[in-house]
Amino acid sequence: MPIEATEKIWMNGELVPWEDARIHVLTHSLHYGMGVFEGIRAYETDRGPAVFRLTDHIERLFNSARILMMDIPYTVDELVQATKDTVRATGLPSCYIRPIAYYGYGEMGLNTLPCTVDVSIACWPWGAYLGADAVSKGVRMKISSWARHDHNVMPPASKTTGNYVNSSLAKVEALKAGYDEAIMLNPQGFVSECTGENIFVVRDGVIYTPPQTASILDGINRKSAIQIARDLGFEVVERDIARAELYLADEIYMTGTAAELVPCVEVDDHAVGSGKPGEVTRAVQKAFDDALHGRTERYREWLDPVPVPAKVA
Ligand SMILES: Cc1ncc(COP(=O)(O)O)c(C=O)c1O
Repeated sequence: MPIEATEKIWMNGELVPWEDARIHVLTHSLHYGMGVFEGIRAYETDRGPAVFRLTDHIERLFNSARILMMDIPYTVDELVQATKDTVRATGLPSCYIRPIAYYGYGEMGLNTLPCTVDVSIACWPWGAYLGADAVSKGVRMKISSWARHDHNVMPPASKTTGNYVNSSLAKVEALKAGYDEAIMLNPQGFVSECTGENIFVVRDGVIYTPPQTASILDGINRKSAIQIARDLGFEVVERDIARAELYLADEIYMTGTAAELVPCVEVDDHAVGSGKPGEVTRAVQKAFDDALHGRTERYREWLDPVPVPAKVA
């Protein structure tokens, strides 16, 4: 998915031209995978561009850093403001937003304590992550031969750059085998999540999703989709899910910022339910999409508007 350049990138407190947002080849995090990042989206709404759950994302960035003992040299409020400034600078009605905090140039070696922490925020237009048809028709999934990493190996609760080696191994394996995305089991053998999405399984009208202890990232969209489903009157249960439950599921769907809410219609060549997105998925997906785009009063507080200054004639 090629990146489309926009005007400016926020780097350590300044908006710099896109092509000047460069780092040294000896940047610490490039070598050891110790960066923390976020994936956020701004949506076009009737109040202009609005960022979905911005403060929640920035707070998760700080939590990711905290797990790594990385001190981000800004406050949550400062990075919330910086994100809005960057979105505004692109002039786009909607975009994907990528903040990252990483150990910069100057130190080498595995002791990160003396390292400086650099922060940047970039935005660009980014379409449906799992393809144009994924949201409407659903995707085909494969259970990965790679296990999701364990809490005591690489904490999955921290959105650490190095964690995505694990995700990429699974993603490429699934794509090469002819599937759209991978489902990862944790070292205990239970369903964990996908390479960049949380997973939900529907059986007999009840929605199940793996708990925090199942080696998942605490997805912001997972939280939102749980609340929306409960508000619609569905029972949502967080519990371990066994592999065979995926083969017997009536419906399966995934949530994530990049992918949004995507139905899964096949796992390991087993059709999920009727082989088409089911009714529960469709109901939650519709309400979720309305929430993202500010069409539901109840969830409007999840959207942080980025007022665009009026053009001077
Ligand atoms: C591994 C992983 N799990 C789950 C998610 C979903 O998280 P969110 O809904 O906050 O985008 C993501 C995406 O950030 C992810 O990378």
